[in-house]
Amino acid sequence: MTRAFPADFLFGAATAAYQIEGAAHDDGRTDSIWDTFSRIPGAVVNAENGDVACDHYHRYAGDVAVMKELGLQTYRFSTSWSRVRPDNGPVNPQGIDFYSRLVDELLGAGIKPWLTLYHWDLPQALEEKGGWANRDTAELFRDYALSVHDALGDRVGVWTTLNEPWCSAFVGYTAGVHAPGRQSKTDGLAAGHHLLLGHGLAVQALRERDPGLELGITLNLTVAKPVDPARPGDVDAARRIDGQLNRFFLDPIFRGSYPADLLDDVAHLGFTDLVRDGDLAQISQPLDSFGVNYYNGSLVSDRPTESAQLSHDPTNRATSSPFPAADGVFNHPQGLPVTAMDWEVQPDGLRELLVRVGAEYTGPAGTDLYVTENGAAYDDIVASDGSVHDADRTRFLQLHLDAVLDAIDEGVDVKGYFYWSLMDNYEWAWGYQKRFGIVRVDYDTQERTIKDSGRAYAAIVAARSLTTAAEPALAK
Ligand code: FCB
Repeated sequence: MTRAFPADFLFGAATAAYQIEGAAHDDGRTDSIWDTFSRIPGAVVNAENGDVACDHYHRYAGDVAVMKELGLQTYRFSTSWSRVRPDNGPVNPQGIDFYSRLVDELLGAGIKPWLTLYHWDLPQALEEKGGWANRDTAELFRDYALSVHDALGDRVGVWTTLNEPWCSAFVGYTAGVHAPGRQSKTDGLAAGHHLLLGHGLAVQALRERDPGLELGITLNLTVAKPVDPARPGDVDAARRIDGQLNRFFLDPIFRGSYPADLLDDVAHLGFTDLVRDGDLAQISQPLDSFGVNYYNGSLVSDRPTESAQLSHDPTNRATSSPFPAADGVFNHPQGLPVTAMDWEVQPDGLRELLVRVGAEYTGPAGTDLYVTENGAAYDDIVASDGSVHDADRTRFLQLHLDAVLDAIDEGVDVKGYFYWSLMDNYEWAWGYQKRFGIVRVDYDTQERTIKDSGRAYAAIVAARSLTTAAEPALAK
């Protein structure tokens, strides 16, 4: 069966600065929280770090050539605050010049640059002043955004403030699985609010500079479902996860308020004391585009699962739940095929999520909706001729593009899709062991090889349609 994408649908791929650039100490860059966190014993698998990563800092031109070969229309990348303004000091001309050259290279290849200002890599110097738990960081983020705009605003039209603030706040400050590795419910809540505030301040300032910019944010969202929709305990568990992961960010951004049930859940943690008059108006700036990152959904209950739990811890270092007020909520595996991350493959969740976000948030606001990340890690095998026959990843991609088309058929105006990731890279606390790329990176030689999934994606992009044949099912 062949299904066509809308004529203006954009196909791209995504990466993030710390995950690919390397050159961690070159040309004036100083530490971000990820440089520091990766040195904590046991924090990252094999104590790996982003010092070299994919050496994209030196190989960006070759990487853009690969994007062009794939036929990508757009490329979503992030700028490193520690490279542009080391220690949040003055602008570093060599640092910003790297992004200027990258943007020129993209434009020369006919690829639309899609810039994300913050993909988790706060300057360590700011963490030492309290990080995102310190309200001042929101204003400093706005100033950093303007510094990037000073240099690139003439050539970059699409600006995303934050990538996945839920992860920055709650995986970084509450669970301690990500940098900076704190395990505090109150710090996570403060970080979440200040990230939202920083987003609102940056959008307002960029809009004042140039009303023609396309401004937005990217959230990671889940579809939280009760194991038994007839059991109030299960329904409440799903409500909590939806509130603390999805609506904590969606509601202030699109509705200018925190959800009442969420405020009740976290009342004992003093959350409302952080929220000052005017903050929610500042946060709820009108947006041009909104990105959803989707990997899978969650099936939850207030009872533990009887089947074996999937492990989501990168190492055996002690960590906490990312949810400040969901003690006693348990995830239940559904017995679906899993990726190398042990994430269940649930393509229909993407359809469901897009339909919901379109109906409840972006549609009423008149904001364009994109899938800014979706992808899968698999344990790739390199054939003797160097090729990678990653049939599972190709199938994953097809299933999720099919789900996007289903959402479009249901009336949601989804404007584009970015595969995560263009190339294998530093998967945070999982290090280099998890490969998400449609392009393989050999970390010994830095050689790039387009995988079969990359060829399959290129064919879809070229045809602007998805043809699904009888593919082998994903292995369990
Ligand atoms: C997302 C992140 C991205 C990558 C993928 C697998 O949460 O935005 O950097 O780690 O997951």
